[in-house]
Amino acid sequence: MDTSKNVRITDELYTYILDHSTPPDPVQAELIERTHRSFAGPSGMQIPPEQGTFLSILTALVAPRFAVEVGTFTGYSSLAIARALPEGGKLLCCDVSEEWTSVAREAWEKAGVADRIDLRIAPAIETLNALPSHPHIDLAFVDADKDGYVGYWEALIPRMTPGALVLADNVLFGGHVVDPAATGAPAAIRRFNEHVKKDPRVEAVILPVADGLTVARVKG
Ligand SMILES: C[S@@+](CC[C@H](N)C(=O)[O-])C[C@H]1O[C@@H](n2cnc3c(N)ncnc32)[C@H](O)[C@@H]1O
Repeated sequence: MDTSKNVRITDELYTYILDHSTPPDPVQAELIERTHRSFAGPSGMQIPPEQGTFLSILTALVAPRFAVEVGTFTGYSSLAIARALPEGGKLLCCDVSEEWTSVAREAWEKAGVADRIDLRIAPAIETLNALPSHPHIDLAFVDADKDGYVGYWEALIPRMTPGALVLADNVLFGGHVVDPAATGAPAAIRRFNEHVKKDPRVEAVILPVADGLTVARVKG
C-alpha cells in the first residue's frame, strides 16, 4: 500500500489550508467565537471552517429541494448548508438540545436563512422515522450521537432521491477507528463504516477532511 500521496497535516499546513480556503462569512465567524465563549468544552463538536465551506460547495452542487441535518448544536453546519440552498430549498434540523439550538436560531435569523429551516427538538430517529417513507431527501448530513449512526442511515437511505448525497462526520474518530479493541463511540463508528461498506445502495468514500467525512451517493 502506498500512502506517500497522503499528506500528514501539521499545524503549519492546517493554517495554510484555512488561509487558502473561502473563510467563514461574518455570521459564521461570530458563531465560532460565541460557541467557544458560551460552551467552552462542547465547542469542539462544531465542524471546522474548511468543512463548513466544503458543505456549502456540496450543497450548491446538489441544489437540494429538501435537506436533513442530524445534529445541529449551535448551528454552524446548518448555516453552511442553508446559505447554499437553492431558491425554495428547505433544511430540516434534528437535535435534542433547546439550549444549544437557541444559539443556532439566533444565527439563522442574523444570516437571513431562518425561513428555510425547520428545527425539530426530539431524538433524531423519531423525527426521521416520522418523515414520509418515499424518496424525497436530496442531501443529508449526519453529525450526532455515534451509536445512532446505523439507525439514522437506515432511516435515511430509503428516503433519499436517486443521486442524493449522504454525508457522515467523525468517521475516522481521531484515528481510533483502526483499533479493533475500541469501545464506545469509536466502536460505533467502526460498525457504521462496515455497514456503509456493505450497502449496495450507495457508492461511498471516506475523505480525510477534519475528523473524517463519508460522502455517499445514492445510486439511481
Ligand atoms: C457534534 S454535535 C453537532 C455539531 C454541528 N453539526 C455543528 O457543526 O456545529 C452533535 C449534536 O447532536 C445532538 N444529539 C445527540 N444525540 C442526539 C439524538 N439522539 N437526536 C438528535 N440529536 C442528538 C447533540 O445535542 C449535539 O447538538
